[in-house]
Amino acid sequence: MQLSDIIHSRRSIRSFSDKPVSDEVLETLLNTALESPSSSNAQPYKIAVAKGDIAQAIAKDLEDKFWRSNAINRQPLPKKLISALTSDAMPDSDFKPILGKYPGIFQKRRVETGMGLYKVLGIKREDKKARDEHMAKNFSFFNAPVAVFFFVDPRMKHMALVDAGIFMQTLMLAATDMGLGTCAQGALGIWRSPLDKHFDIPKEYKLVCGMALGYPDDNVVNQYRPEKLSLDDLVISSK
Ligand SMILES: Cc1cc2nc3c(=O)[nH]c(=O)nc-3n(C[C@H](O)[C@H](O)[C@H](O)COP(=O)(O)O)c2cc1C
Repeated sequence: MQLSDIIHSRRSIRSFSDKPVSDEVLETLLNTALESPSSSNAQPYKIAVAKGDIAQAIAKDLEDKFWRSNAINRQPLPKKLISALTSDAMPDSDFKPILGKYPGIFQKRRVETGMGLYKVLGIKREDKKARDEHMAKNFSFFNAPVAVFFFVDPRMKHMALVDAGIFMQTLMLAATDMGLGTCAQGALGIWRSPLDKHFDIPKEYKLVCGMALGYPDDNVVNQYRPEKLSLDDLVISSK
């Protein structure tokens, strides 16, 4: 594929076939992503790659935390506070606070994108149970055989996040080029503790985000193509 075709055909993949990703393919993808530019070539990132039993164990842990925290959030206020203080299910993300409702126009775009996705999935807006079940799928990486977790050293300030984002995009495009699919997943940054059980993460590195990686299947969800900004919305006009 031409690079422009790869860029245009990449879309977030939320349903995967059970075809495994070979170590050879994974290594090729990661070596390609390592070609990413970064601020002064500092490369202030590290990744953890979960597959097989480790991926399953992490998914089990994350799903469990998701459903338990979800139940706590539904409790009336005083009870909710007590449960939140005593439960190990509440978010233990490295970057706090977790972004709840997005500010301004971004929440509108988020809702539109979410509604578009639910429409493709046949989920009604008022069907909270179905929406929660879809959300829960994030934590098993939408059944992808591989989950990649991205960490940065925050001493590199905002540059660390810029660099990690570029690294992630290079990885996503390389995966698309090789017939694989990806979904960047902020949801995988909500809980850090399940990862610490399986990886020796250097303490200065903080979890930013995760990514599902595998071969897309033909589920209709993978056909969703949310609208992008127009150039008019993107480009700031001159004075
Ligand atoms: C940093 C980041 C975090 C994301 N987090 C999630 C997530 O937690 N769950 C999910 O289903 N999609 C997630 N996405 C995918 C976005 O929803 C998706 O990129 C956006 O809707 C545009 O669609 P496209 O990737 O198909 O072009 C994330 C994307 C990025 C870049």
